[in-house]
Amino acid sequence: MSTTLQADKKTIETADFLPLEGTDYVELYVGNAKQAAHYYMSAFGFQALAYAGPETGIKEKASYAVRQNKLTFVLTTPLRTDNPIADHIYKHGDGVKALSLRVQDATKAWEETTKRGAKSYMKPVKLTDEDGEVVMSGIHTYGETIHLFIERKNYKGAFMPGYRPWNNPHFQPADTGLLYVDHCVGNVGWNQMNPWVKFYEDVMGFKNILSFDDEDISTEYSALMSKVMSSGNGYVKFPINEPAEGKKKSQVEEYLEFYNGEGCQHVAMATNDIVKTVRDLQSRGVEFLRVPTTYYDDLLDRVGEIDEDLEPLKELGILVDRDNEGYLLQLFTKPVEDRPTLFFEIIQRKGAQSFGKGNFKALFEAIEREQEARGNL
Ligand code: FE2
Repeated sequence: MSTTLQADKKTIETADFLPLEGTDYVELYVGNAKQAAHYYMSAFGFQALAYAGPETGIKEKASYAVRQNKLTFVLTTPLRTDNPIADHIYKHGDGVKALSLRVQDATKAWEETTKRGAKSYMKPVKLTDEDGEVVMSGIHTYGETIHLFIERKNYKGAFMPGYRPWNNPHFQPADTGLLYVDHCVGNVGWNQMNPWVKFYEDVMGFKNILSFDDEDISTEYSALMSKVMSSGNGYVKFPINEPAEGKKKSQVEEYLEFYNGEGCQHVAMATNDIVKTVRDLQSRGVEFLRVPTTYYDDLLDRVGEIDEDLEPLKELGILVDRDNEGYLLQLFTKPVEDRPTLFFEIIQRKGAQSFGKGNFKALFEAIEREQEARGNL
C-alpha cells in the first residue's frame, strides 16, 4: 500500500512542471498607496514592511509592502500621469494587478509556462542588493492581471531589492489573526470560464478540482458559474467565475462592468479563529455582508455539530458549510473601494477543502440586496 502511495506521489511530483510554494504577495494598483497602506494596517492589522519610491531610486512609482503572518500585500501608485499604472487605475479603479507566486526557480517557471502558450509579462530579471538576489519573471492571465514568479531563496532582506525596510514605531496596530492566502478568485467574461480553465491546465499544470454550475449558484434573480483550479501540490487555488443568465444582472456582470474587464474578484485570507478575527476587523471599520438571522434557525440541522457557539456566529453573521472532509466558517467583506469590485473573504477551515457551496444562495441574496441598493440589479 505504501509503495503505491509513494509511486503516486512520485508521478505527481514529476508531472508538476510548475511547483509553486504558495502566494508570495498580492500587489494592488491604487490611487493613493500611502493611504491604502494605512487602511490595510489600521483596518486589517497588517504591519509596515518595506517601501520603494523616489527615495530608493524608483522614480515612476511608490510601493508600500505590508505583512501579516504569511500574507504580504504591496500597494503601488504611479507618481505621474504618463504611466501604465495610471492607465490601469483610470480604467479599473483600485484593484489587484499581480498574484505573485513563490517558486524555487523563476527562470524555469517562465520558460515552462511561456513554452506552453503563456504570454510573457516580463522575462526573468535578477534583482540584487547587499541582502542578496531575487529573480522574478511574469506572465499574463485574465484581463490585465498578471502572475509574477518570485524566487527569493538567495535573499535575506526585508522584502526585495529596490525596497528599504519601512516601519513606524509610533503606529503598530495589532494583527487580526489573518494567516495566509487561501485562494484568489477571478471574474471572467461570458463564455470565458472554460478557456481560462484550459489556460490554467495547459500553461500552469493546474487541475480543476471543483465545478459549480448555474443550478448550484443561482437565486431567484442572478446566477454565475465557477470552476476551482488548483496547483499540483494544492498550495495555490484560483476559482474562476463567469456570469450566467438570470432574471436580472449577475454579480459577476456588475463586477465586469465596473472593473471595465476581467479581474480579481476576491482574495480569501485564512484565520484560525474566525470569531476573534471578524470581531477585530469589524471594530476597526471593515464592513461585512449580512445574511438574514433566519440563516441560523436550521444551521445545525444543515451542518451538524460544530465546535463554535452559535451565538457569536449569529451576532457577527459568520457562515458555516460542511463537506465530506469537515466544515468551514467564512464571511465576506463588502467591496473595499467605491466601485463594486474587489472584496475579501475571511475563512477558517476545519477539515473542509471546499468553498462553501451550501452558503451560496444566502450569500448571493445578500450580494443582490447590495446590488439593488446600488441600482445595479
Ligand atoms: Fe472564496
